Amino acid sequence: MLDVIQTPGFQQRFFFLAKRFVAGETADEAMDAVAALNAAGMTATLDFLGEDVTQRDEAERTRDAYLALLSAIRRRGVETNVSVKLTAMGLLVDEDFAFANLRTILDDAARNADPFVRIDMEGSAVTGATLRVFERAFAHTRNVGPVLQAYLKRTPADVERMIALGARVRLCKGAYGESPDVAYKAMPTIRRECLRSAEALLERGVYPAIATHDERIIAAVERFARDRGIGRDRFEFQMLYGVRPDVQLRLVADGYRLRVYVPYGTHWAGYFYRRITERPENALFALRSIVAR
Ligand code: FDA
Repeated sequence: MLDVIQTPGFQQRFFFLAKRFVAGETADEAMDAVAALNAAGMTATLDFLGEDVTQRDEAERTRDAYLALLSAIRRRGVETNVSVKLTAMGLLVDEDFAFANLRTILDDAARNADPFVRIDMEGSAVTGATLRVFERAFAHTRNVGPVLQAYLKRTPADVERMIALGARVRLCKGAYGESPDVAYKAMPTIRRECLRSAEALLERGVYPAIATHDERIIAAVERFARDRGIGRDRFEFQMLYGVRPDVQLRLVADGYRLRVYVPYGTHWAGYFYRRITERPENALFALRSIVAR
């Protein structure tokens, strides 16, 4: 199915489907979405869509799109971070090349007192390389943080390493199709692992972000923070654009910090594919929308 979604014809005709999860095709449209979130008491993190780049010039264009995005954020004065995928920065071409591209973005952000840069986590084939590049970047600036995925069996050790480093971690369940050799597959186990890592990060980490729409995890995190006297300014919840806006509003009304992940751009196939495959009802919604046209 991903092959079909990736064809230019599909993408031109069916952007209306992705619109539920993607804020727009341009930085201006994404910035409008961020302004609306800010007005509702939420912050954001902007993701210029793209991944698995195998050509240097394409990775450089993506890097430049982030530099333009940082300028646009400055101009609009919106409250947002940025999220970057290292395979869009050329990680599959060469690790040093991806680091150099990331560092250009971090230097630009540092010069302008700009937002925090989050490195998204991708499939397990690049977990090690992503964390290596993150650590090189972190030695250079504290304005950068990784994502850890609770479904990976290696994650408890990575959580401890990030706590020891003092890095700001986003914790999520994980969205890629992984083998049982490296990842837990059963949802109760993933939920248990997610909560275990969340508790460690809340208790001993630096300003963790708990990225989930899972109300059981959210409730458990709320309880844990309350019981341990961990203030609402010491962590944040994060959710995806277009997913469970009701829960997003409830958390803000209850005084929690909430950051919304706002993807934009024309390379939405991989992101859209992950969103429809993680929830069967989304695939049905996509099919119904096509039939209704
Ligand atoms: P779960 O899938 O159990 O969903 C709980 C409830 O949330 C569902 O019952 C439904 O109501 C709602 N819901 C969840 N997903 C939905 C969807 N697509 N459409 C509609 N409703 C949905 N992954 C990764 O591998 N690397 C990364 O860097 C990131 N980054 C990231 C940032 C942020 C801010 C978030 C929220 C998530 C990510 N993820 C990610 C994705 C994450 O790993 C995971 O795939 C999704 O968040 C879905 O898992 P949940 O924990 O939300 O629970």
